[in-house]
Amino acid sequence: MNDAYGIVLVDEAQEDRLRLRKEVSAAGISVVGEASSTQEAVTLAHEAQPDAMVISVEEPLARALRTIEMLATALSETPIIAVSSEHSREILRKAVLAGARDVLSRPLRKDELVETLAVVVKRREQRGWTEGNGAPLPQGTVVSVFGPKGGVGKTTLAINLGVHLATQSKERVIVVDLDTQVGAAAVMLNLLPNRTIVDVLQNMRHVDRDVLKSFVVEHASGLALLPAPIWTTEQEEELPADDVGRLLGLLSSYYDYVIIDTPPRLDAVVLRSLQASTFILLMTSLEVASLHATKRVLERIGKWEFAKDKIKVVTNVSNSANSLGQRDIEAALGYEVFWSLPHDPNVAIASQVGQPVVQAYPRSKASQSISQLHYTLIGAQPARSGGLGTLLRGWKS
Ligand SMILES: Nc1ncnc2c1ncn2[C@@H]1O[C@H](COP(=O)(O)OP(=O)(O)OP(=O)(O)O)[C@@H](O)[C@H]1O
Ligand SMILES: [Mg+2]
Repeated sequence: MNDAYGIVLVDEAQEDRLRLRKEVSAAGISVVGEASSTQEAVTLAHEAQPDAMVISVEEPLARALRTIEMLATALSETPIIAVSSEHSREILRKAVLAGARDVLSRPLRKDELVETLAVVVKRREQRGWTEGNGAPLPQGTVVSVFGPKGGVGKTTLAINLGVHLATQSKERVIVVDLDTQVGAAAVMLNLLPNRTIVDVLQNMRHVDRDVLKSFVVEHASGLALLPAPIWTTEQEEELPADDVGRLLGLLSSYYDYVIIDTPPRLDAVVLRSLQASTFILLMTSLEVASLHATKRVLERIGKWEFAKDKIKVVTNVSNSANSLGQRDIEAALGYEVFWSLPHDPNVAIASQVGQPVVQAYPRSKASQSISQLHYTLIGAQPARSGGLGTLLRGWKS
């Protein structure tokens, strides 16, 4: 067995995985895990840190190509090697376009597999070590906090989740404010920024880690903020969507967690942010108008490959008590509710004094709920069993 490399096998069908396992083992390479879905593969990749993912590409091609595409997006640092019994140029082209680094023919040959692994691993190392300080580029978790209606608690959740992560996990956390009309994240954190995301985007060509640092404001909790302008301008700044995508990519290589506060509309910039995200916290209040708008968002993006498995519906009773129960909401949305934030007057009180509620009132209902959401969503501590546990089954803790 060649223990120099460890790979993860990905295939929906158990039989096909078994076949692949036999072939790879016969070629003398260690299999460190098997995944039947993209989600499982992503979790395994984080846990087992394989040198590559191996996936078989057979007719019908669409399914395998879709998996490759999703894996390549979610795990840009883990090379994907496709294996196929067809030797066609067409398959090679399609698999490589989807994100595979190489396509090997069946039956697998040990020398070919080892050679491909050696090349992809070397390339990855070269890329990872090009950072000035010699440390490999980490790929952070990106969380978009979005909701199509105003005032449902997006900014409140984004900054509180950010502060909680920064103080409890001791990791590098940044909140990015994409709402250029309001810039409320800085206000809620009681920060007065000199420079904003608009300035960063105007300097994208020259942006690197040091330049970015000079645009970021630090909160006392250790949370970093890339703010939106807080002074109202004549015209709302329109951010260039492509550059926003590039910026989020850069930030996720410098920070362990990138939390994005969004404006209440699904425009090109927000779409780019959702595409770049590991999780999308889709927030709604319990009001009919908000539920209706949320349902429309789910209808629109729920079917897109990039959004599957990422969308987590979060209800928030931001304004008043409401009689709609979780079941009613799930029936109305046609989607599972992942989390329910309780109504808590401490949220508004804290915000009036420019403090996140998780710091001002850590024992309050809202703070406890946000804390639990952090651990359940991101992992670090097991989620409490019962209640929400049923909804959260299958999510890494
Ligand atoms: N769980 C809660 N309990 C009580 N008040 C809340 C809660 N969540 C949010 N609020 C209050 O609701 C108001 C709106 O919250 P927030 O600004 O976070 O919403 P938003 O979705 O970001 O709004 P916008 O779309 O305008 O950016 C704030 O005054 C906030 O203090
Ligand atoms: Mg907001």
